[in-house]
Amino acid sequence: MLKEVLEYLDPQAGQNFIDCTLGGAGYSMAIAKKIGKGGRVLSFDMDKMAINNATRIFEEENINNITLINDNFRNLSKNAKDFFPDKEEGIFDGIVFDLGLSSAQLEDRDRGFSFKLDAPLDMSFGNTDILGGDSTEKIVNSYGQDELVKIFKDYGEEKFARKIAEKIVEKRKENKIKTTLDLVGTIEGAVPASYRRGKIHFATKVFQALRIATNQELQNIEEALPQSVNLLRPGGRIIVISYHSLEDRIVKRFFKKESIDCICPPSFPVCACGHKAKLEMISKKPLTPSDEELKGNPRSRSAKMRIVEKK
Ligand SMILES: C[S@@+](CC[C@H](N)C(=O)[O-])C[C@H]1O[C@@H](n2cnc3c(N)ncnc32)[C@H](O)[C@@H]1O
Repeated sequence: MLKEVLEYLDPQAGQNFIDCTLGGAGYSMAIAKKIGKGGRVLSFDMDKMAINNATRIFEEENINNITLINDNFRNLSKNAKDFFPDKEEGIFDGIVFDLGLSSAQLEDRDRGFSFKLDAPLDMSFGNTDILGGDSTEKIVNSYGQDELVKIFKDYGEEKFARKIAEKIVEKRKENKIKTTLDLVGTIEGAVPASYRRGKIHFATKVFQALRIATNQELQNIEEALPQSVNLLRPGGRIIVISYHSLEDRIVKRFFKKESIDCICPPSFPVCACGHKAKLEMISKKPLTPSDEELKGNPRSRSAKMRIVEKK
């Protein structure tokens, strides 16, 4: 949703932005071109592959106003302060999050994001030290059955969560589940035939759930949102594009809470919380990709974009 990102961030010469999710560097480069030499983009990615790829592109295209940071965006404030040590909070003109995984990661044959490609069972975006959580292989091969059920239900809304977890526990007693196709085979053996023939691939939800758990995706966005508010100047904007309802719910609730003055329970006769709105919603409803974008990039169909402005 690059067109919309540029429209709502409206980057001007000399301004400073943060791209929390560099990926293929499309957003970072488009913003960098608009702000020119006097401005700067701090671009985060947990994935070394994204950082290396962007380094090469920026060299080739002679782009010098982007600083690449190979870290989790949950460490937003710390990194922003490291790069702007003499400045206080409230200096950025806009911050964008384009959550989830990139096409390059999904299509990389050596990584375990796709249930269609055989690869080691590793769905991490970055190194485990940046991740802070457990590897996919560890989750699948060592978590208790109930923990697995919870992950598949909470993060995948998978209706056969218990059956799949049971099958995983049974299988791993014989042999470790080491690859994506080992896991796909295990899921296949746990779900009914009608589900195996369903419209969406039967492994989709379990793969999504394991990816979210491995990368602690919900915790990351929950921790990063308050930091991003503090880093913005008044009038600066935050844009979040999410791809599943769990993430979108966190973003929606946070933006809503920070856009109202009092958060006391409705039964309170007078305000006791003293909460003051820091944000203003720019769009009440989330924006979705245009028909034109959907034609060129069908994977964007689940995208929801929310925008707020700092007061
Ligand atoms: C959907 S892609 C971003 C695409 C990007 N907007 C572009 O123009 O190509 C998401 C990227 O964010 C990265 N990512 C996801 N969660 C992250 C986190 N918590 N910290 C840093 N990077 C993260 C992924 O590794 C991936 O490269």
